[in-house]
Amino acid sequence: MSAAGKTFYLETFGCQMNVHDSEKVIGTLVSQGYRQVEEETAADLILYNTCSIRDKAEQKVFHRLQDYKKLFVEGKRFGVLGCVAQQEGEKIFERAPYVSLVAGSASYHRLPELLVQIESGERRVTGLDDRQTEQTFETEFTARSNPHRGYITIIEGCDKFCAYCVVPYTRGKERSRTSDSVLAEARAMADQGYTDIQLLGQNVNSYRDPLGKKSFAELLTAVAEVTGIRRVRFTTSHPRDFTKDIVDAIESVPSLCDHVHLPVQSGSSRLLKAMLREYTREQYLDRIAWIKSAKRPISMTTDVIVGFPGETAEDFDESLALLEHVQYDGVFAFKYSPRPNTPALHLADPIPDEEKSLRLQALLERQREIQRVNYAKHVGQRLEVMVEGRNTPRGQIVGRSSQNKTVNFTTKHPIAPATGSYLHVEITQSFPNSLVGVMA
Ligand code: 5AD
Ligand code: SF4
Repeated sequence: MSAAGKTFYLETFGCQMNVHDSEKVIGTLVSQGYRQVEEETAADLILYNTCSIRDKAEQKVFHRLQDYKKLFVEGKRFGVLGCVAQQEGEKIFERAPYVSLVAGSASYHRLPELLVQIESGERRVTGLDDRQTEQTFETEFTARSNPHRGYITIIEGCDKFCAYCVVPYTRGKERSRTSDSVLAEARAMADQGYTDIQLLGQNVNSYRDPLGKKSFAELLTAVAEVTGIRRVRFTTSHPRDFTKDIVDAIESVPSLCDHVHLPVQSGSSRLLKAMLREYTREQYLDRIAWIKSAKRPISMTTDVIVGFPGETAEDFDESLALLEHVQYDGVFAFKYSPRPNTPALHLADPIPDEEKSLRLQALLERQREIQRVNYAKHVGQRLEVMVEGRNTPRGQIVGRSSQNKTVNFTTKHPIAPATGSYLHVEITQSFPNSLVGVMA
């Protein structure tokens, strides 16, 4: 059976890497003759791109596969992609025998051949390359959903093995693309009208050009200097590999956005050691000092884990004090979630779940107040925003600042500005997570 004329449905969960992987998977499928449909009932092939970072994600996938079972008819195919696929592997076939494809992200470069296998009727096709592969998933067929801002993967996988984290097991080992290939993709995007690029990797700071031409900071600069590109962001950074030249680049290249997401995870050096993070509170704060001493203000955001096994009230207070010290513009805080295969799974964890929930709530409340003050500092300023669309309930236009802040604004002009355009907004009001203003 050939794929020509076949339809597929794809649903995506998880991080930006997964969202962008799906764009590449969709492009690959379309290049193989498939057509995307919005309803799973109308699809010959149903794919589910999964995440396993927290919260018993694998159980959710199995529940969801039960729903899919109801759709099963002869000739219809099911596939599980992404982190749960890599983590659970062939066990998925045991629990959901109607699934015929299980593939983790490190195998996507083999997707065309895997598709041929399932279309020819093979029942258990796997792409579970795990940590062996050196290959990255590069394709000219990326189907980006937004015509103005888009992702480019620069490094896949992770070699850090933080004690709580499943990613090194689900996304394989670190492998960087050449800077030539990244720059060619950025230029092609600029030619298509893209102005905003976000460089992606689990740990972008450990980017190593296989041809040795550019460091990470040099690559950032080169992408930001591509004609037509007005904004470049990057995520996620790891404090251990975050170097001063990144701050220098942001300072000197205006199209590098003034925002750094630098996950700290905990403010306690004792806990950072248990988490195998390879830096202390003091070393982390040194990085923050570089960022704070830059000539133009650079917005900072972070990730924090609350309730890691053995976190005492004192450790938690150190996380709170660190938030107070840094004054982040945003914090993604998570309750620790035990993950399969990870070293922390076997640590004694005497903290009751209710206590973890209380800590999480306390941290988020404290951070909300910090953000209320931070965001209020923009009132009276004029910020450049990229227009993203409309906020329908309030009739406002939604834009994003270089610092990655949402700006809801109105305009007296009879014609609303186009999505993707850049303009200036006078900020009149602030909230802990957004700004309000009037087009200048
Ligand atoms: N439990 C809770 N949070 C986690 N994260 C990663 N693994 C876990 C886990 N097992 C958080 C970290 C990371 C973010 C993407 O998710 O804060 O930076
Ligand atoms: Fe989820 Fe991590 Fe996989 Fe992204 S890399 S999909 S966050 S488990």
